[in-house]
Amino acid sequence: MTKYVIHGGHELHGTIEISGAKNAAVAIIPAALLIDGVCRIENIPQINDVTLILQILQELGADVRTVNRTTVDIDCSHIHNHQVPQELARKIRASYYLIGALLGRFGSAQVPPPGGCDLGGRPIDQHLKGFRSMGAEVEVSGGLISAAAPSGRLSGASIYLDMVSVGATMNIMLAAVLADGLTVIENAAKEPHIVDLANFLNSMGADIMGAGTDVIKIRGVERLTGGCYSIIPDQIEAGTYMAAVAAAGGEVLVKNVIPKHLDCITAKLLEMGVEVEDLDDAVLVRRIGRLRRTNIKTLPYPGFPTDMQSQIAAALCLADGTSVLTEGVWDNRYRYVDEFRRMGAQIQVDGKIAVIEGVERLTGAPIRACDLRAGAAMVIAGLAADGVTEVDNVHHIERGYEDIVGKLRGVGADIEAVTVPDEEQVPAQIG
Ligand code: EPZ
Repeated sequence: MTKYVIHGGHELHGTIEISGAKNAAVAIIPAALLIDGVCRIENIPQINDVTLILQILQELGADVRTVNRTTVDIDCSHIHNHQVPQELARKIRASYYLIGALLGRFGSAQVPPPGGCDLGGRPIDQHLKGFRSMGAEVEVSGGLISAAAPSGRLSGASIYLDMVSVGATMNIMLAAVLADGLTVIENAAKEPHIVDLANFLNSMGADIMGAGTDVIKIRGVERLTGGCYSIIPDQIEAGTYMAAVAAAGGEVLVKNVIPKHLDCITAKLLEMGVEVEDLDDAVLVRRIGRLRRTNIKTLPYPGFPTDMQSQIAAALCLADGTSVLTEGVWDNRYRYVDEFRRMGAQIQVDGKIAVIEGVERLTGAPIRACDLRAGAAMVIAGLAADGVTEVDNVHHIERGYEDIVGKLRGVGADIEAVTVPDEEQVPAQIG
């Protein structure tokens, strides 16, 4: 097992290069199943979720060739299996995209229920509603989601999502690109990775309009052919390092970003007294004085992202005054609070609301990452705290952050990944 040992209290100075977007990559890679020919995907982040999804594709019969560190060629001409292996699918949330992609291309899919971070209930009823509207018969039994189009091909349909869902929007898009006729998704999600998936599919011959608005129209085509596509930079990875500078202080150029995608994060950092300057493909982030308090509610894009809630909370623990966070997407995204309290943070949680009384200083402690973003937030808290913080369970973090230790060391953080025997891990919290 690996843990991160952080000697906090050092400002961050230098440049951090942002990798490709995780939540785009984990949809675009399964989308290769829809393509007749070889597709080249560039700017793929080197993270465990990507490794898993590529492994699943290989198990299904895809030919996956590594071109270089961030580029793969995928050829799905010889898919021989529509049943996704249980042990791999359960490790990753995005395995649900395999339902839409397999169903769209081959008219049938058998996929175990997805895994991923525990954020409270994570139903996929809207995905299944979409597939059913398009004529699929869907059954959930024996630990398997089975979907099949009786005629072998789905039919376009009008689908209104009951709530804004990133996963359902992308999954229905995947199912619809090769369907017969027009599919309309209303109340669609608008995140940058929705637009990225649509751009990827369109570049391979799909006919998708309106991605990035709340009505997406997909006219089914006969086939998609190969091509080359580069994934957008990771908005949340960039935001995480921006929050790290806010918490620890210093000045960092966060490079290879689309500043527009960061507006929702930048706006809050500015309110907190952080200086953020937008450049062409970078943002310069500087924090000198003490942070100011603010209130934040997480919402679907272009609102403040739920995937940045815990990282911004880490910074707000050190702000001057009381901040109120409201989680507007997930039921249970405050599981990190007990760990922050071990470091001296003053946080009260009532349902979806967290009230943070800023303190002058946090102190290092042994803490445990409970999910991907919470884990990143604990690293941020450790960077800003006095003394030594040891974060364990870092496999959660490595699911979604490429080389977080190397990138932070590059801007002067004193952080290292240490391998420890299992018995030395921080004991699990009871209750
Ligand atoms: C995606 O999850 C991301 N995961 C999450 O990122 C992110 O937090 C979330 O979108 C919101 O932005 C991936 O892209 C792999 P949703 P997803 O469907 O698609 C409810 C991270 O840290 N809902 O937009 O699963 C649901 O319960 C991860 O990178 C239904 O009720 O999220 C939630 O309250 C964590 N029924 C809300 O909608 C459904 O069928 C939004 O969920 C679908 C969703």
